[in-house]
Amino acid sequence: MRMRSVNVDLGGRPHSYLVEVGSGLLSSCGSWARKCLKGNCRVLLVSNPTVFKQYGEEVVCSLAESGFTVETFLMSDGERFKSMKTAEAALKFMAEARLTRTDAVVALGGGVVGDLAGFVAAIYLRGIRFLQIPTTLLSMVDSSVGGKTGVNSAFGKNLIGAFHQPSGVMVDVSTLSTLPEREITAGLCEMVKHGAISGRSLLKQTGEFLASVDRRSLISDLKDQVSDGSKTRKAAINGLSDLIAENIAFKAKIVTGDERESSKNISSRSRKILNFGHTLAHALEKVTSYRYFKHGEAVGLGILFAAELSKSLALCDEKDVNLLNDVVRNVGPLPALANIDGDEVFEAFKFDKKHLSGSLQMILLKGIGKPVIVTDEHIPRATAQKVLKKLLQKWA
Ligand SMILES: NC(=O)c1ccc[n+]([C@@H]2O[C@H](COP(=O)([O-])OP(=O)(O)OC[C@H]3O[C@@H](n4cnc5c(N)ncnc54)[C@H](O)[C@@H]3O)[C@@H](O)[C@H]2O)c1
Ligand SMILES: [Zn+2]
Repeated sequence: MRMRSVNVDLGGRPHSYLVEVGSGLLSSCGSWARKCLKGNCRVLLVSNPTVFKQYGEEVVCSLAESGFTVETFLMSDGERFKSMKTAEAALKFMAEARLTRTDAVVALGGGVVGDLAGFVAAIYLRGIRFLQIPTTLLSMVDSSVGGKTGVNSAFGKNLIGAFHQPSGVMVDVSTLSTLPEREITAGLCEMVKHGAISGRSLLKQTGEFLASVDRRSLISDLKDQVSDGSKTRKAAINGLSDLIAENIAFKAKIVTGDERESSKNISSRSRKILNFGHTLAHALEKVTSYRYFKHGEAVGLGILFAAELSKSLALCDEKDVNLLNDVVRNVGPLPALANIDGDEVFEAFKFDKKHLSGSLQMILLKGIGKPVIVTDEHIPRATAQKVLKKLLQKWA
């Protein structure tokens, strides 16, 4: 199995790092961690029971074989546990284990585990190193790369956090074999988002992959890939690994250019463009109390909204919007919008607005690979309402 390596080049500063992508990598994570951390130390492995049951032992064994002393902190599974309360419990655990500034945190899990583990690593003793081993598709292509860490709070999602880059990321695609199907769909939606804002080449690669691969058989391929080796199987898994690496490379490029998401930067290469599809997604998640959609699924619908709105504002032509629709259709089933109230969605837009110096910045498209940041005063409300109404009807 080929290995891919993506460099997240943060100007040669000490926190530039590599993302390794391959399959069956977990069993050698100890030697990888030694390389990233330049020697061994004590590590705090942060995970949750769901992921730890599947992969924890392999990771702990490999780290121990490479000379690390491993402490394990398991947080409960679920977005609601990405909280200050959990962070505090993790920090207490770290203090009681007497982790020092030369020790490190290893996150093993999806974006929830990664965000929380990164956050405690950012603030414990004013910052210790951490490594990411993402195990969901979304965390592989999105949250594990870029250094945004944080927790949710009563004031909103992800409002408390820190920029803290990992010292390395290991993406083992074989961990996707146990991931529930809806989580695969959610990750694929974020990949379509990257394709839409990156350009035709990545969107085409994503579209072709989705059209050629049966998702169920891909998952079973991942399950028995170690023992088997037929050509088609390897091709599908190789295709997925290539696509994941391309997505990471694209995200790395954007992060490199705008590491801290400068509020002044409203260019087409601002880190903000990674929020394409997210204005509607956040509103859909909010009006359903974060219980109905997987975040990525809401992004899938948000992409369709942003594309259609771009067309209505004469920014983007119909051909590109149709192309995006076709790709999104192939990510898998998305939740129906039958019970969503358009007025409530508009109210929920205000929430994003409140946190963006009073104006809502939407990422729209002038075409595939041509994102543009448009503030809401340039979007007639009636046009947005009409587009939303049409989307709600189409996906009822
Ligand atoms: N930091 C960033 O830049 C960034 C970017 C995007 C999203 N996020 C955050 O990421 C989080 C969402 O991450 P997510 O979609 O990975 O969700 P998640 O971490 O909740 O994982 C989804 C579910 O899959 C389970 N799981 C994880 N890996 C598994 C595996 N290999 N096999 C079986 N089950 C597995 C988890 O236990 C969980 O139940 C959100 O909190 C979001 O805010 C952060
Ligand atoms: Zn997202």
